[in-house]
Amino acid sequence: MDAKPQMKTINVDLGDRSYPIHIGQGLLASAYQYLKPHLTGKRIAIITDENVAALHLDVLLASFEGADLIIETIIIPAGEGEKSFARLQDVLGQLLDANFSRSDTIVAFGGGVVGDLSGFVASILKRGCGFIQIPTTLLAQVDSSVGGKTAINTLAGKNLVGAFYQPQLVLADTDVLGTLPLRQLKAGYAEVLKYSLIDSPDFFDWLEENAAKLFACDASALAYAVAKCCQAKADIVKADEREHGCRALLNLGHSFGHAIEGLAGFDGSVLHGEAVNAGMLMAFEYSESQGLCKGQDVERLRAHLQKLGLTTLADLPKIVRADPEAFFAYMMRDKKNKDDDLTLILTRGIGASFIESHAEKTSVQTYVKLACERRA
Ligand code: GLY
Repeated sequence: MDAKPQMKTINVDLGDRSYPIHIGQGLLASAYQYLKPHLTGKRIAIITDENVAALHLDVLLASFEGADLIIETIIIPAGEGEKSFARLQDVLGQLLDANFSRSDTIVAFGGGVVGDLSGFVASILKRGCGFIQIPTTLLAQVDSSVGGKTAINTLAGKNLVGAFYQPQLVLADTDVLGTLPLRQLKAGYAEVLKYSLIDSPDFFDWLEENAAKLFACDASALAYAVAKCCQAKADIVKADEREHGCRALLNLGHSFGHAIEGLAGFDGSVLHGEAVNAGMLMAFEYSESQGLCKGQDVERLRAHLQKLGLTTLADLPKIVRADPEAFFAYMMRDKKNKDDDLTLILTRGIGASFIESHAEKTSVQTYVKLACERRA
């Protein structure tokens, strides 16, 4: 058995909107102790989904025993389909009916869907109320709970309606990852792998050695990887909170990935992280096709994904048979694009990603068509 690691705290340094990310085992049982300094009103609303509620809500609620607070609990169905106008309206309605005020605090208790929806609710409820993230998936602990991106999806695409709204605290209890289905862990791993591919070849070496330990929920490996990713994200968010520059690097694989999710119809058949795993390999393949990246780096990434049983385009028959024009149309609606240009995160190799603000559209279209045809 691993010894219990100490809690590690990483600060997201944003002046008077700075906040801590606490990472460690068993934090949920003491959640109120960590939340208390950040609560200003008498109410909190815990927004969670049915899966997380069944597994962990009692532990979280028990931590508030004796607290002088009115606690609302809003439980939504699980799944990407909940990042919708309809669910947004429903949750806002429940909070307004409960007379939730600006000084009260929304606690997002779940994965990326709960975090993105709850954060957007917090950003617009009475023009902004308190907001705390307690992420319960690998994806949310290493990426979506940190940095203040909140959003819902629309028919036009992923995360196209939202706001930047930073939480006041992120509380990441790595023990809860032990209840995640392997599919969710593998999907969340995409965002871990992403940090290594952006600018950290040493971390990629570490993942080649240790990724299987993450899927086995080895406490030390999880603590190391979550802290490594949160530190990388905190540094990027500090440098470029609103994505005018380097923050776009965090979108490696996401332009291709969001197109995959859009084509899948946000119906849960393709998880966000699965689309990103496939999308990152596409970004590498496209970079190679443009002479930017060596084939051996593409093959190293492909081998890593295959060894771990992670999703690639070859595993997505519905996507490879879809209209490549529709795939490309989703890419053209991506938030990173300016005017009519296509922005992509491309690579010169493992750990050497860069922002291409004027990707050659015809080449991308040709690559998408060939990539899909090859797997059809
Ligand atoms: N998930 C990408 C970002 O936070 O910028």
